[in-house]
Amino acid sequence: MVKYVINASKKKSQISKHIYGHFSEHLGRCIYGGIWVGEESDIPNTHGCRNDVVEALKNINIPVLRWPGGCFADEYHWKDGIGPVDRRKKMINTNWGGVVEDNSFGTHEFLEFCELIGAEPYICGNLGSGTVQEMSEWVEYMTSDSISPMADLRKSNGKENPWKVKYFGVGNENWGCGGNMRAEYYADEYRRYASYVKDYSSNKIFKVACGPSADDYNWTEVLMERACKYMQGLALHYYTIIGPWENKGSATDFSEIDYYRTMDKTLYMEELLIKHSAIMDKYDPDKNVALLVDEWGSWYDVEPGTNPGFLYQQNTMRDAMIAGINLNLFNQHSDRVHMANIAQLVNVLQAIILTEGRKMILTPTYHVFDMYKVHQDNTLVESYINTSEITSEEYKVRDLVESVSLDENNKLYITICNTDLHNPKLVNTELIDYTPNNLEGKIITEAMNAHNTFDAPQVVAMKDFNDVILNENGFTMTLPPCSIVRITLE
Ligand code: AHR
Repeated sequence: MVKYVINASKKKSQISKHIYGHFSEHLGRCIYGGIWVGEESDIPNTHGCRNDVVEALKNINIPVLRWPGGCFADEYHWKDGIGPVDRRKKMINTNWGGVVEDNSFGTHEFLEFCELIGAEPYICGNLGSGTVQEMSEWVEYMTSDSISPMADLRKSNGKENPWKVKYFGVGNENWGCGGNMRAEYYADEYRRYASYVKDYSSNKIFKVACGPSADDYNWTEVLMERACKYMQGLALHYYTIIGPWENKGSATDFSEIDYYRTMDKTLYMEELLIKHSAIMDKYDPDKNVALLVDEWGSWYDVEPGTNPGFLYQQNTMRDAMIAGINLNLFNQHSDRVHMANIAQLVNVLQAIILTEGRKMILTPTYHVFDMYKVHQDNTLVESYINTSEITSEEYKVRDLVESVSLDENNKLYITICNTDLHNPKLVNTELIDYTPNNLEGKIITEAMNAHNTFDAPQVVAMKDFNDVILNENGFTMTLPPCSIVRITLE
């Protein structure tokens, strides 16, 4: 029997709803075909955006959406994507498949899409190949309400009032595709570009600096030491890859060893959060600068027969587990983690939605976001669980990963992942300072490589979970192998 203790009166940090954020890049079929089909399409749409995708996203309360990249961001020139569509410049998307980008989805289309789905925009500016003026004018174009050339340009394109844009990234992966810079050089460039990312009218920008790749602790050290007073956020990127890079493995056809190696790599996120936060604490003990994990998720070989530059992969119960673990870790570290953006929204990497022409399916990862949305903006409460390790020479994996939050109506939400592929876990939960009258359970569980297809879209989905019994100290539950469970108490 596993011991689990939840102390509802030990309130910790607020779980920012932005931890449940997403990322959409001009990459493969994420924007074109995934989000945007154009007004003339026979796929039902609102101002060019697919209605089925909009509805699915509204259902999970997507709080924030990052755009236009990714590597694409540091080659993107925003003025090419405004004004009459037939006069917009075309370019080659050099990062992703060498296809023609016709700029038909630009600033107006993205911000209108955010309005449709009720998400805040998070724009990533071009530091790698753009100018300070270009970045500065983009912010002015979107947010200025005063006498200004860029506000006039926006009005001439049919948008009288400015948008509210809070989150703005000053470059992406500038240690790599965003310019191959050294940390010291980027820190100076960041300071220069960020100086001209201004607040117009009542709009207040939250400036995000490019942060480290995985365990590049030196990058965090240098950025924090040299530039932390000019930023509100530092963006960490970490993908679950069981590699090597040339052979990342199939998304659907994998062994138990591959599964556990994937879990091991996923759990490494916790070490990254702890170590990067410790460096940030040195320079920013009051936690004024947030850690944003603005790219995370699984990365496998592309589906056979698809364009290698499009990063299209299937999504299984293993991916649901990756999402469940990461989201619990972000909740647990929400004192420093303010936002996280899974890569990517539709048809790319660990997508929550896949489309094929008119058809659309929700992936196992989508159902995890649906299950966990209840945590958004709640208060994290203290919890302790007695975990075991599943080990071999190739991996070391914790069997249970959980987090607990309390909402403003005193409802308690517990989300817990059982990574063990063979053993159910009988969990005895003691509740301190909380006496529930009602309990509801939900579960996502299937074989590790189960997935949804266009012919069988409901193989992995959220179902009712009844293997849970209230008692005088709390409750007991039996978690099936390879499962993700949510318990709601009130
Ligand atoms: O998400 C795909 C790519 O991964 C992004 O463009 C880049 O930022 C990262 O390397």
